Amino acid sequence: MQNIMVTGGCGFIGSVFIRHLLLESDFDGRIINLDKLTYAGNPENLADIAGTLSERYVFIKADICDTDDISHAFDTYAIDAVCNFAAESHVDRSIVAPDAFIKTNIEGTFSLLEVARRNIDQLELFHHVSTDEVYGSLGASGFFTEQTSYRPNSPYSASKAASDHLVRAYGKTYGLPVTISNCSNNYGPYQFPEKLIPLMILNALEDKALPVYGDGRNIRDWLYVKDHCRAVWEIMKNGTRGQTYNIGGRCELANIDTVSMVCDLLDDIQPREDQTSRRDLISFVKDRPGHDLRYAIDSSKLEKELGWTPRESFESGLRKTIQWYLDNSQWVERVKSGEYREWIEQHYQ
Ligand code: NAD
Ligand code: DAU
Repeated sequence: MQNIMVTGGCGFIGSVFIRHLLLESDFDGRIINLDKLTYAGNPENLADIAGTLSERYVFIKADICDTDDISHAFDTYAIDAVCNFAAESHVDRSIVAPDAFIKTNIEGTFSLLEVARRNIDQLELFHHVSTDEVYGSLGASGFFTEQTSYRPNSPYSASKAASDHLVRAYGKTYGLPVTISNCSNNYGPYQFPEKLIPLMILNALEDKALPVYGDGRNIRDWLYVKDHCRAVWEIMKNGTRGQTYNIGGRCELANIDTVSMVCDLLDDIQPREDQTSRRDLISFVKDRPGHDLRYAIDSSKLEKELGWTPRESFESGLRKTIQWYLDNSQWVERVKSGEYREWIEQHYQ
């Protein structure tokens, strides 16, 4: 793999993946980052890379639904691998407005697969990044394995499930060399502050309410974003073609405990002037419709076959994440104020 097309590389996980590949891994080729720059895509996440590593990093503003643009990129850059991160990713948005989820997550993946199929002779791998949410919701016990049946409950997870099926089908029917990964909840630097952890960090810093859905007993299985990226790269290099790998940190926490930990760590790193606990900002609000109760990933296949294990504990990862948001107040301000969109409009219209 020398010319990897990473889609959605200006988003949260995609940008950390590109940074990891170019700066920290054994990859010595070129990344072609194809991103539509939706509200979740921020080229500032990779501004340093674009500035200093221009011979190994190319950015293309394009939609994964546009087969002409994707084909052009394949021809121009001799793409030999695809890693598909591009997606609409936020469950709450999918409940309010599912259309974009169907378009990007299903039709977009289909368009990418079609171009990949036409270029099958030059393609070493099509890796599809997916989610544990395709498996639905667990009760109090048990884990999602690669054999668990798909039972998606939100428009987001249903659209990701459909895209996973398409990828698998292209592997079986056309012999496209595919791998799929299904990962649990990520957290870390560059995450858009609509998701639980960054939203709570930034609200707490401004003494705003911390909205916890329902009774806060829903459980998520947290993984530090760089551990996810290391796993994806390991699967791309050494995963068996045609296979699915679950990725998770064995780190289940009820939302109320996650939010309480955010409060406590912030109080420790940057105490309030009056020394009171930020836990007093927690406010229970109306539940998310169809809110999945519990996710828990069994990643033993990945651990046994490819020797991957997470490196970050939740406490160390959360501390790093909070520190990152404190140290990057300019990024935070530009995202919160919408200034990053103005920059995109000036440069890409
Ligand atoms: P994100 O919302 O932060 O970023 C998505 C990126 O995709 C953005 O840069 C956006 O501009 C781009 N994009 C959206 N529509 C596009 C289109 N039509 N064409 C080209 N680019 C488009 O998402 P994320 O949290 O980084 O998630 C990345 C992937 O990982 C997604 O496929 C998601 O389903 C999956 N995933 C996320 C998590 C998580 O906890 N965030 C966990 C497991 C799997
Ligand atoms: O499990 C992987 C998935 O994790 C990814 O596929 C998705 O792209 C990603 O967004 C994430 O989905 P969740 O719905 O689990 O993440 P979110 O951060 O939106 O919410 C985490 C939990 O916190 C969930 O149980 C809902 C709850 N929540 C969320 C928000 C935004 C709150 O209680 N309050 C909030 O304000």
